Amino acid sequence: MLNLYTLLVSIIILCCSWKPCQQRQDTDCLHRCGSINIPYPFGIGPPDGKGCYSNPKFAVSCNSSTPSPIPVLSKFNLEILEIQRSGRKGSWGSLIVKIPTLSTCSRNNNSTEAKWMSNNLTDSPFRFAGDAVDGNVFASVGCDGHAVFYNETGGMIAGCTSVCSPDNSPSAGAVTVSRSKCYGYRCCQVQLTSVHKHFMELKQYGISVGTTNTSGFCRTAFLIGKKYLEAGPPLASGITAVPVVLKWGYAPTWFRKHAYLI
Ligand SMILES: *[C@@H]1O[C@H](CO)[C@@H](O)[C@H](O)[C@H]1NC(C)=O
Ligand SMILES: *[C@@H]1O[C@H](CO)[C@@H](O)[C@H](O)[C@H]1NC(C)=O
Ligand SMILES: *[C@@H]1O[C@H](CO)[C@@H](O)[C@H](O)[C@H]1NC(C)=O
Ligand SMILES: *[C@@H]1O[C@H](CO)[C@@H](O)[C@H](O)[C@H]1NC(C)=O
Ligand SMILES: *[C@@H]1O[C@H](CO)[C@@H](O)[C@H](O)[C@H]1NC(C)=O
Ligand SMILES: *[C@@H]1O[C@H](CO)[C@@H](O)[C@H](O)[C@H]1NC(C)=O
Repeated sequence: MLNLYTLLVSIIILCCSWKPCQQRQDTDCLHRCGSINIPYPFGIGPPDGKGCYSNPKFAVSCNSSTPSPIPVLSKFNLEILEIQRSGRKGSWGSLIVKIPTLSTCSRNNNSTEAKWMSNNLTDSPFRFAGDAVDGNVFASVGCDGHAVFYNETGGMIAGCTSVCSPDNSPSAGAVTVSRSKCYGYRCCQVQLTSVHKHFMELKQYGISVGTTNTSGFCRTAFLIGKKYLEAGPPLASGITAVPVVLKWGYAPTWFRKHAYLI
């Protein structure tokens, strides 16, 4: 699977060097939004901005209505935090986007449950990276209940729960945990590749979270870039969005449709 992927990517890089990737050097094309670089094949351009980006799925809009402008991957309406290129011609790499978390809190002695499905990246050059080395892990913060991770067809493929101290106080509804300590106390994580070898890349995923009927307890769950789970400020159960790693330049679709790559 991985070898095929590497091979396909190499072929694309070769194709790219035979015929130099077309890139418009136009003042209408922007490759920076706020402090974030938007390298080709991504680009910010007019709606018909052919040449600013390699195809409309790489089109980025720059939202300047916020104090610091925010780049958004237009097709999927995902806030971009960083674009990393790799490969000789930079024809594939990682895209770090901000994706909302899913939370639920029990109230009035009732248990609660919430479910959510991610963007559907089928037929796009993007995939959610499952590999824990430079990709994502599934994680959840909270004191009781459970968090479940689903694949694109709704199959339950991973889950975890975490505990707090025996004398859980109502303040357990607002748990925080040091990022390097997500191992079952207040926070749990699952490496997707340890669960299923096919989860190197995901087109879509789902999450559900539940709490028991202990009022005031909350649980939050999310897919998160492994390195962001391990560094940064403490995670709180109220966290609303986290960085997620997408791989871009995904090849097999290109071989079917000849449309998505540079
Ligand atoms: C730009 O950001 C503002 C504030 O977050 C938001 O209300 C608005 O919908 C965004 N516009 C676009 C085009 O995404
Ligand atoms: C929740 O359950 C506790 C213990 O059973 C009880 O004292 C409390 O009144 C209940 N609260 C509500 C809102 O029903
Ligand atoms: C939640 O609990 C209250 C009392 O504890 C009950 O009246 C209400 O029907 C419950 N709601 C649900 C959705 O179960
Ligand atoms: C929570 O649910 C369990 C099982 O349904 C029940 O035995 C218990 O009394 C409930 N606790 C509260 C606080 O309502
Ligand atoms: C995701 O998109 C593909 C292609 O557009 C479609 O076939 C599939 O049914 C979609 N999945 C879901 C869960 O909607
Ligand atoms: C999703 O998970 C279910 C249950 O494990 C499995 O049968 C199915 O093949 C998986 N779907 C994909 C697309 O991997």
